[in-house]
Amino acid sequence: MLQMLHLQNFRRKNTRMSDVKVFETVSEFKNFRRQIHPDVEIGFVPTMGALHQGHASLLEKSVSENDLTFLSIFVNPTQFNDSTDFDKYPKTWQQDLDIAAKAKVDVVFAPKPAEMYADKYRYKVTENEFSKLLCGAHRPGHFDGVLTVVLKLLLLTQPTHAYFGQKDYQQLQLIKDMVASLFIPTEIVSCKTLREPSGLALSSRNMRLSESGRIQATFIFKTITESSSAAVAKKNLTDLGFEVDYVEDHKQRRFVAASIEGVRLIDNVELK
Ligand code: PAJ
Repeated sequence: MLQMLHLQNFRRKNTRMSDVKVFETVSEFKNFRRQIHPDVEIGFVPTMGALHQGHASLLEKSVSENDLTFLSIFVNPTQFNDSTDFDKYPKTWQQDLDIAAKAKVDVVFAPKPAEMYADKYRYKVTENEFSKLLCGAHRPGHFDGVLTVVLKLLLLTQPTHAYFGQKDYQQLQLIKDMVASLFIPTEIVSCKTLREPSGLALSSRNMRLSESGRIQATFIFKTITESSSAAVAKKNLTDLGFEVDYVEDHKQRRFVAASIEGVRLIDNVELK
């Protein structure tokens, strides 16, 4: 019989920064997960790495609301419809571990694609309405990839709470809906978008912009906030040199996806 891992013992072992536990295989992680007492509240923050303060804000919220916090780092191949975009996705492993340690994360789970997709992606989750709009209309299969990997990660981690950013609002809504529809016993916690003082939403993709591209990118938030309609915002962004996938209003929110220097950025704001 495996001994139940009691919270106090676990905590005592993990009071120093260097004590973040890292699991890179599903079997080792499952073995560890099985030993945690059912009363321990677990917060889970799934990410694709290249962590920044936006991710850190989710981690800090989870640490403050749970006994243990798990962070997953997995660049999920099935949600990239463009293989160059997947190849270019920034990887900053050591820096990610430092951010995790600073936020007092207890466990980092960083599995390999071969293990996460041992089925070669024969099984997937598909939503047939909202996932076909906005980003789904421009990135076919994207949300199938997101929902499938999030379901797999939730089944592996079995968290009490899982934290997602409003920055990816369509993703957040779809995950909330999937969790309710499939009776998954995790509470999805919606977290505010962290922005630079300029208004630019923090994103791992910002790292790929030149200095002038970054300044240009600040016009995304300004334009969707200040334009009188989605159509006007789309025209203004196009005039500023963006390649605009869409600007659309849905349920009191304005959504945008636009590229600059070949980097596709998304954002959304609540309409007053
Ligand atoms: P990733 O882009 O790494 O984002 C991980 C989480 O951080 C998401 O919930 C996202 O909304 C949140 N986040 C990103 N930037 C933020 C910001 N500026 N403010 C607040 N939260 C922010 O989203 C994904 O990864 C993946 O699709 C994933 C859910 C991990 C599935 O592969």
